[in-house]
Amino acid sequence: MNITVVGTGYVGLVMGACIAEMGNVVFCVDMDSRKIETLKQGILPIHEPGLENIVTENHACARLHFTTSLAEAMADSAVIFIAVGTPPGEDGSADLGHVLEVARQIGSLMDRPTMVVNKSTVPVGSADRVRAVIEQQLQQRAVDVEFDVVSNPEFLKEGAAVNDFMQPDRVIVGTDSEHVRQLMTELYAPFMRNHPRILFMGVRDAEMTKYAANAMLATKISFMNEIASLCERLEVDVENVRLGIGSDQRIGYHFIYAGCGYGGSCFPKDVKALIRIAQQSEFEPRLLQAVDARNELQKQSLFEKLVARFGSDLSDCTFAVWGLAFKPGTDDMREAPSVALINSLVGAGARVRAFDPVAGQAARREFPERWFAEERLAIVEGQYEATIDADALVLVTEWKPFRHPDFKALKRLLRNPLILDGRNQYDPAQVSREGFEYCGIGRRA
Ligand code: UGA
Repeated sequence: MNITVVGTGYVGLVMGACIAEMGNVVFCVDMDSRKIETLKQGILPIHEPGLENIVTENHACARLHFTTSLAEAMADSAVIFIAVGTPPGEDGSADLGHVLEVARQIGSLMDRPTMVVNKSTVPVGSADRVRAVIEQQLQQRAVDVEFDVVSNPEFLKEGAAVNDFMQPDRVIVGTDSEHVRQLMTELYAPFMRNHPRILFMGVRDAEMTKYAANAMLATKISFMNEIASLCERLEVDVENVRLGIGSDQRIGYHFIYAGCGYGGSCFPKDVKALIRIAQQSEFEPRLLQAVDARNELQKQSLFEKLVARFGSDLSDCTFAVWGLAFKPGTDDMREAPSVALINSLVGAGARVRAFDPVAGQAARREFPERWFAEERLAIVEGQYEATIDADALVLVTEWKPFRHPDFKALKRLLRNPLILDGRNQYDPAQVSREGFEYCGIGRRA
């Protein structure tokens, strides 16, 4: 099959590369010409394990093309995936501007039956809006061609995206067309050779499924974070509670890790967008509002622990921060708990020395330049370098090299032997045996 994917962000690029890998010819389109040029040279805009190889190999054998021209891509393909961003608008609702602009361009070029597939996360009813925009363009051009608008939301996890695409738990397709069912079954068959995991449903059902999946996962996390706060007040260890409840198969062990809050480009944005969707239907989604509010509080939890320990004026303090990315395996800092923490610490006068195995560059762009110039914030090159003369080590992202650190070295380097563990990575008993004061999230120290 010849396929066009519009948008070479995280979803579009992973999808384009993975379907090219299965023998399809894929045109990845992006209006950002610099991005397209660098992709042609095999330089990726994101850090994603395994992606670089499949991008460069498929590009080299002309199965994966990069272009800024939608016309060039559409000349050869009757299947177009829209995978552009839906950033949050002022009120938290998903901004459909990019999606509808791509729809307009598709409508202005379409001259044969085409399947338009929406991969972007969009509110219920967006497929109808995409259809209307395309129809309007066709009418203006007096062109009469059949086309389908399909919803095919993406469920990739950053840091595991290639694997998730290659071996999906399920593929959701929203359509009422038999022809689309056949085409999508054919396209996804190589990714589910053992047993079919493609679920067909109505377009609106598919659009809602995407939001409901992310909101459910975010709910599990916020629920556990709330229990953790309660555990702290009742001298209970949330890690024991996690093990205790996770063993019930109806609950399961996934996504019940208490921590310093969820981040990333999806959960915070999608929960807020679903709240707006509900409100636009004149429904107050109390549970979703609480999930979101809990997470905002949770992102301040490490800062509050430091203030409780050192006071609200932190101008004499230096803190080491381990981990800046919103989770391990990525350099993505969008909505990362580290950002909330560092903003609050620097705001309270503290100095911060932070280290992340891959997100150092992203962090330099994230914070005001003057913080670096005034030495309020330093992004250093090694995890132990960050801890020199610090008043506490704060673990924010659980990268593997942080999981079993050299406690002896830490003891020597830190000015004050205090470890704040924002991801409950350490055994409190072991850390105290090593001579540290330990403070986790919902842990009994
Ligand atoms: C999330 C979903 O997991 C994907 O299924 C979905 O496709 C994707 O959003 C999306 O909509 O594109 P992602 O944002 O890559 O994927 O990250 P997750 O692995 O889900 O982690 C999100 C945040 O939750 C991280 O900050 C992580 O540290 C936090 N988290 C996760 C917890 O605090 N506790 C947990 O138990 C699990």
